[in-house]
Amino acid sequence: MDHHSPDDFTAHWAKGELGEVVVSAKEVHDRVNELGRAITEDYAEHPPLLVCVLKGAINFMSDLMRAIALPVEVDFMAVSSYGAATKTSGVVRIVKDLDVDLLDRDVLIVEDVVDSGLTLNYLRQYLGSRNPRSLEVCALLLKEGEQRVEQSLRYVGFSIPSDFVVGYGLDVNERYRNLDGIYTFIGTA
Ligand code: IMP
Ligand code: MG
Repeated sequence: MDHHSPDDFTAHWAKGELGEVVVSAKEVHDRVNELGRAITEDYAEHPPLLVCVLKGAINFMSDLMRAIALPVEVDFMAVSSYGAATKTSGVVRIVKDLDVDLLDRDVLIVEDVVDSGLTLNYLRQYLGSRNPRSLEVCALLLKEGEQRVEQSLRYVGFSIPSDFVVGYGLDVNERYRNLDGIYTFIGTA
């Protein structure tokens, strides 16, 4: 696969706005399956409740849950940093809360990308206060050198440079989520 131009089937309409391939569709697919196998081993005795952080983690959640060979349960939360800026404000608003009780559950937060870490930090405290048995994080992407809050991430798909990226759930103004690969964004936000 060519790693320097948008070449996945779903990306052709967006070509002018996409820069380099950061993670190809094939690399995403392979790594998500590896993560699924690791989670299957680690949680064999206690199948987790997967908590998807909408909307960016939808693609990841959808593939990851099918790569886990355990009776997992899933639930969804929606959070929003204020506005449509490409940098987080650190102020997180809960747009949709969970439906299920976390008491004594093994909760695994499924996140798209950890940038400053402020969103995740907030979520961890918020969910941790509901007394789960365990609370861990599975993040597809980790932006290198950007974390303003110390993070212990049990599972990370890829460490990537700090450029803004789109695709595989990640958006700019709600677009590009349906790309199979992950790309730098060079269009105008
Ligand atoms: P943090 O609070 O700075 O870690 O930002 C995390 C959230 O900001 C993610 O859940 C994304 O919704 C968004 N975000 C951060 N970096 C990117 C990016 O490169 N592309 C798209 N969304 C991003
Ligand atoms: Mg977003």
